[in-house]
Amino acid sequence: MSYSFFDAVEQAPSDAIFKLNAAFGKDPRPHKANLTMGVYRDENLLTPILQTVKTAENYLLSHEITKEYLPIEGDPLFIQESGRLIFGDSFWSNSHARISGIHAPGGTGALRLGADLLREGITPTIAIPDPTWPNHPHIFQKSGFKLHLFSYYDMQRHQLNFQSILETLQKIPSRSVVLLHGCCHNPTGADPTPQEWEKIADILRQRELLPFFDFAYQGFGKGIEEDAHVIRTFAHQSLECVVAASYSKNFGLYSERVGTLFVITRSSETAQRVLSKLKVIARTCYSNPPRHGGAVVGYILSHPELKKEWMKEVDAMRHRLTTLRKEFVRALQEGQKKRDFSYLLNRLGMFCYLGLDKEQVLKLQEEHGIYIADNGRINLAGLSSQNFNYIIGSILKIL
Ligand SMILES: Cc1ncc(COP(=O)(O)O)c(C=O)c1O
Repeated sequence: MSYSFFDAVEQAPSDAIFKLNAAFGKDPRPHKANLTMGVYRDENLLTPILQTVKTAENYLLSHEITKEYLPIEGDPLFIQESGRLIFGDSFWSNSHARISGIHAPGGTGALRLGADLLREGITPTIAIPDPTWPNHPHIFQKSGFKLHLFSYYDMQRHQLNFQSILETLQKIPSRSVVLLHGCCHNPTGADPTPQEWEKIADILRQRELLPFFDFAYQGFGKGIEEDAHVIRTFAHQSLECVVAASYSKNFGLYSERVGTLFVITRSSETAQRVLSKLKVIARTCYSNPPRHGGAVVGYILSHPELKKEWMKEVDAMRHRLTTLRKEFVRALQEGQKKRDFSYLLNRLGMFCYLGLDKEQVLKLQEEHGIYIADNGRINLAGLSSQNFNYIIGSILKIL
């Protein structure tokens, strides 16, 4: 047989971050440093399993009696606890009937479920901030969306490009979707102020635009409760909205693939119809979600003492990031006078968006063995007392 079905398949580009991670793995230099992926690391540069996750896993090990399929929509306890965590107990108790909730394989799975749902006759256009998590445009494009990228951040002034955000919201077709980061915008770490969020909410309402929140860093900004404030405010204002949550970072459950998608609708009857559509999408894609990670999160969140312990573990991760951020900025400021990096102190989350150009990023990698994302974003959690001075020294050399 000479004919091949696959000869015409073109080589697709590798995912930039996974490619960098693989290159880092192969780099033989002992002083190399990995500041690429958005993965939390401790002072030993390990990504630990949280103690509360271990406790839940120990419980499951001795009590779980089946690995039978979950329902298509997933683990009901996990969905309920996830809803309470994001929206708050009272809103969830009063409103859950009009919220469709589905357990998804990670935040990415939740985003894709939401994207596919919205493309099924609801709306063709989505506005996406630029910069954003690089997978966002791919996900929504794959679902068939027309993308409208808008400038989110002013690299010269080191501040939100709020004017551009407002202009975009005023001019995109009404009934479009607008992708927003619930907290800790990736990669800039710059979130709108409460007043700016209010203005955004006003325009969304006036122009009948649908907010789609990506919520991947709850607890890494100001706190578990504080970081949910924006989404809760939108929900309380009776705005219909979509929320894709990830438990990769705040539970350290990266490879277990744990996420939820919530769609706040106006009535329980609508919520049921929306859920029925989501179930068809899930069934034809992965059938039903993986059990383990959702069971762990559901167990922790439904046991008040364990939940308190988990919140302390998240606080500890956030404090490490905050301390590293302060030290990092102090060292950069003391080491040079060409650029002012003090703006980085007001940013939230895991990342520092340094505004380095491609050549500088490549120099860091090739000449110094320091791997950072192509867009000049560094993961603060990749810093430790062992590599701190070397990384600062190298950055100072390429500025
Ligand atoms: C902004 C943002 N959204 C979503 C995700 C995806 O999360 P998950 O690994 O749970 O799919 C990430 C992961 O880095 C992210 O940074």
